[in-house]
Amino acid sequence: MKKNIATARIKVESSKLLKELNDSLPFDKELFKEDITGSLAHAKMLAKQGIISQEDYEAIAKGLQEILAEIESGEISLDGADEDIHMAIERLLTQKIGDAAKRLHTARSRNDQVALDFRMYVLKNSLEIAALIKENIQTLVEIAKGHTNTLLPGMTHLQHAQPINFAYHLLAYASMFKRDYERFLSSYNRNNYSPLGCAALAGTPHPIDREITAKELGFKAPTINCLDSVSDRDFALEMLFNIAMLMMHISRLSEELILWSTSEFNFITLSDKHATGSSIMPQKKNPDIPELLRGKTGRAYGNLMALLTVMKGLPLAYNKDTQEDKEGVFDSVKTAKLALQVLNEMMQEMQVNKENMQKACQRGHLSATDLADFLVKEFNMPFRDAYYLVGDVVNKAQDMGKDISELSLEELKAIDSRFDERVLNVLNVQNSMNARNSLGGTASAQTQKQIEFFKEWLKAN
Ligand code: ARG
Repeated sequence: MKKNIATARIKVESSKLLKELNDSLPFDKELFKEDITGSLAHAKMLAKQGIISQEDYEAIAKGLQEILAEIESGEISLDGADEDIHMAIERLLTQKIGDAAKRLHTARSRNDQVALDFRMYVLKNSLEIAALIKENIQTLVEIAKGHTNTLLPGMTHLQHAQPINFAYHLLAYASMFKRDYERFLSSYNRNNYSPLGCAALAGTPHPIDREITAKELGFKAPTINCLDSVSDRDFALEMLFNIAMLMMHISRLSEELILWSTSEFNFITLSDKHATGSSIMPQKKNPDIPELLRGKTGRAYGNLMALLTVMKGLPLAYNKDTQEDKEGVFDSVKTAKLALQVLNEMMQEMQVNKENMQKACQRGHLSATDLADFLVKEFNMPFRDAYYLVGDVVNKAQDMGKDISELSLEELKAIDSRFDERVLNVLNVQNSMNARNSLGGTASAQTQKQIEFFKEWLKAN
């Protein structure tokens, strides 16, 4: 019988079905680089501490480097019958260098090994995702620069509410993405500790030095408690949550891009590069990209929920259930990276139909609140009275088929003789947008300040 390295106590050949259920190589081969990097650091430390000889270390290091190069060049494929990536690399090393390879697993278990590999994968990708988020913020700010005066109907309940400008709307998303960016970095910092050397669950009697391996691998320090370290998947859950939240933001933006590119809105036109057609309707141009980004948010939520559920009943320390941690994270990471790249490209290339945005502001009586505020301020009217009087003005305009901002002074005076010229300025939608000059408001001057804030932030991060 061909003996599997990880089954010292098992005397019969494994059931095919067990292998199908148990083997993680088909997906955890994704971690080959982290696994080899971790082993190199571990072997170096073992030699430094006199736990293995310098000669054995050199053979191990040379062998692992070669295996890494061979996997990367495609010379070695990781599709064998090995149980997981850890056993696969150990087998390959044993075939290459013989006996020295058998000393590599001293003072280590696959429990700390997998916790290390997976953590390194998550940390590396947290930084890569953060960098892609930053590119999207940069793009939003770039577009915003040209649109601080582009009027856009601000909505509540998807009904026209108050006039804003397009830059201000884009910077709302820049603000969400900034929080996402900070969230990935904060998770990175919280989880930047090495579990290597925790062994199976309780540490090891060998005189290892976990500080050395932590430093070698770029961690801040070793983790505190080994029992926790081999059981902890908080770092993976934080990644899944951060991605779920990020995708929720991307999905909301996607929803707006879809709405804005309908013939009813026609506020933006997506580049033909980023649209698809229909197999039957020759005239169609569909916004499949934002639809898919909105749709893929579902799997990001699912992956988070799946791992939270896997973890909830696990006693300490390692349980095989934990092997279920990887596929969802790999999927969410790939989804988030692709989503951010495609979103960025799509926004850079979309056309902004400024005139249609402005035209839409002539519908829905966007400056009605301004008139009420004016009556309070200048006529000393109680707000509720002003509110009802403006209601009359809106109804009158509606009957005439006009927007409140299109009424003439005569038409206004016919409703209330106290109205004078100043009211025309108040009802002008551009003035209405610029009147909201409070901190964080939509006035062009405030929007410009927000652009300056993001420009500084981008420089500092
Ligand atoms: N393939 C396993 C996983 O992904 C590696 C750890 C196995 N440890 C064990 N004690 N069986 O979780």
